[in-house]
Amino acid sequence: MPLPSHVRLVEVGPRDGLQNEKQAISVAAKVALVDQLSAAGLGYIEVGSFVSPKWVPQMAGSAEVFAQIQRLPGVTYGALTPNLKGLEAAIEAGVTEIAVFAAASQAFSQKNINCSIAESLARFQPVMELAKQHQITVRGYVSCVLGCPYEGEVPPEQVAMVARELFAMGCYEVSLGDTIGTGTPSSTRTLFEVVGRDIPRDKLAGHFHDTYGQALVNIYASLQEGIAVFDSSVAGLGGCPYAKGATGNVATEDVLYMLNGMGIETGIDMGKLIAAGQGICEVLGKANGSRAAKAFLAKH
Ligand code: HMG
Ligand code: MG
Repeated sequence: MPLPSHVRLVEVGPRDGLQNEKQAISVAAKVALVDQLSAAGLGYIEVGSFVSPKWVPQMAGSAEVFAQIQRLPGVTYGALTPNLKGLEAAIEAGVTEIAVFAAASQAFSQKNINCSIAESLARFQPVMELAKQHQITVRGYVSCVLGCPYEGEVPPEQVAMVARELFAMGCYEVSLGDTIGTGTPSSTRTLFEVVGRDIPRDKLAGHFHDTYGQALVNIYASLQEGIAVFDSSVAGLGGCPYAKGATGNVATEDVLYMLNGMGIETGIDMGKLIAAGQGICEVLGKANGSRAAKAFLAKH
């Protein structure tokens, strides 16, 4: 299969990257991050979540962030919504794109959203209906696609079942999440081969956490399977509150460096992206988790 000539990167840093941070991060700092990412040419930015503040306190200010960001034309600003209450809050905040999130493992579904896989899918039905009434587009996530922190191995057929349900209920794209970063190129290729039997590959995305240092090579393996949409997090920020030890997503700068080198277009400006990552790292008082960003900064 020829490699795609163009890749769409979904920037999840403001949501997946920050959701697990224990320290208070001001709305202004979150807004500045989103605005810098927009200016860097990202076409999709996941701004926050409308979830229970008891479960994920860091995302509590998402409505204020949405109210203050500068929305550039052509950029999609998304938010996670686990249920109708979340969608109603998102509508109130003027959100035009949401994501529902399910898991391929029962144990993770219980820990993350307090219900079984089947219950979560049933819960998403009215969310899809209300979203449609408001012309809100819906992306779907499946977590634990290459391993679960509680159950270990997850069969690709189980992932395919959940992904199929999300696609059938109207998600225009389903992002497969390696939540704990245990996948390798061979399990990644098998995953897309199996899930790709039911869902067209241009409706699938890869979401790789870099816990075992496999994210970039798994993206390359996915490209070989014809996948052309990837989620990533500026400066490699993040981790999931319900997957202990899970580190951030693959760093957007590292993915961009690889794609630029391969002549695959993204429309993203490396210099502006690195500045956005450095800005939020300074706010957090953390070292930049992107190898490419660190190398560029050392050189210039
Ligand atoms: P629950 O406790 O079963 O919910 O949580 P409930 O319906 O029984 O309600 C309990 C309380 O929560 C009530 O408030 C509700 O009003 C409130 P109280 O009466 O006690 O004051 N509540 C809400 N408040 C605000 N927004 C809402 C909302 N819903 C209920 N939407 C629930 C169920 C799904 C709400 C909870 O488990 C939750 O919020 N989970 C979110 C977990 C989360 O955000 N995880 C991280 C994102 S997923 C991820 O990172 C993986 C991904 O990156 C892909 C990958 O890497 O694999 C996407
Ligand atoms: Mg994630």
